[in-house]
Amino acid sequence: MTLRLAADTDGIAHAAALLRQGSLVAFGTETVYGLGADATNGQAVAAVFTAKGRPHFNPLICHYPDAEAAFADVVDLPAARTLAAAFWPGPLTLVLPRRAGSQVALLAGAGLDTLAVRVPSHPVAQALLRATARPVAAPSANRSGQVSPTTAAHVLDGLDGRIAAIVDSGPCPVGVESTVLDLTGPRPFLLRPGGVTREAIEAVIGPVQVGIAPQIAEPVRGLRSPGLLVSHYAPALPVSLAASSVDRNEALLAFGPPLPGAGAVYQLSATANLSEAAANLFAGLRALDAEGARLGLSRIAAMPVPATGLGLAINDRLQRAAAPRG
Ligand code: TXA
Ligand code: MG
Repeated sequence: MTLRLAADTDGIAHAAALLRQGSLVAFGTETVYGLGADATNGQAVAAVFTAKGRPHFNPLICHYPDAEAAFADVVDLPAARTLAAAFWPGPLTLVLPRRAGSQVALLAGAGLDTLAVRVPSHPVAQALLRATARPVAAPSANRSGQVSPTTAAHVLDGLDGRIAAIVDSGPCPVGVESTVLDLTGPRPFLLRPGGVTREAIEAVIGPVQVGIAPQIAEPVRGLRSPGLLVSHYAPALPVSLAASSVDRNEALLAFGPPLPGAGAVYQLSATANLSEAAANLFAGLRALDAEGARLGLSRIAAMPVPATGLGLAINDRLQRAAAPRG
């Protein structure tokens, strides 16, 4: 049985104590819910992979309450300091060289000599990280390969009984995962589009490259770990993209005025607002999956979303949801 904790002082103190003793606690951030473990405790980190049913030891993001705490574990390259000043706390993850003295368990970084670090802005995540006073490794709190959770109910759908506790901080305001930027090579590489837009990053540090950075170690490239996996964030129903018409057998993921004739409709944003659509994306995929199963629909059809700003992250997640499975 997973303990439901309120996002108040008592709940956060209880959650921090559980984390410090090596238990797993899910918590809300501004992006999605994370499945937290004390990053310095190798057994706790290993338990994260078991709870998620993750087949491989993919590297995890370590979470900190502020930049100073993060830069105790990773090297504060000049671009990292600049980006931290601009975007932390917030939905940006930086991949940096791990410091030799770091206490973070090697398994959290999948044995790489780099570490992904992030300072979330959500006040509940902030309070929990301060109370825990240790780096917290946290992948998205879903079973491996499934849609990321943006509410406590989504987390419990996949992980009830498999983790010690969840701190319920309500729906996640951003709704897509953090942007992952690798700063360990000669040029910054955008490994995963997310809550901080490419445009915003480029306005601060200049051009970034997109794709899989050459310096990414073979274990990560080989695994194409979550952000790089082709089929990921997968609902049960097949997903088709850029729908221009729909029929009664299809569940429509609408963006702006909905196409007529679908068997079910979930509206990401009636006004075609990208922030609103990002916040609703994963809940929408889950809702259409459930509704589609109830009504016996054959697939989810997604309307086109422009690939600018947060639309880059939305399109990235939709493409993975639509990719061939297995
Ligand atoms: O918004 C988020 O980032 C959420 C919340 C909970 O913080 N977390 C999240 O974690 O999405 P996860 O495990 O689902 O995705 C971690 C991403 C993966 O794409 C992985 O490839 C990348 O971070 N990553 C982690 N460590 C890395 C490293 N050392 N080198 C390259 N990529 C790394
Ligand atoms: Mg994930």
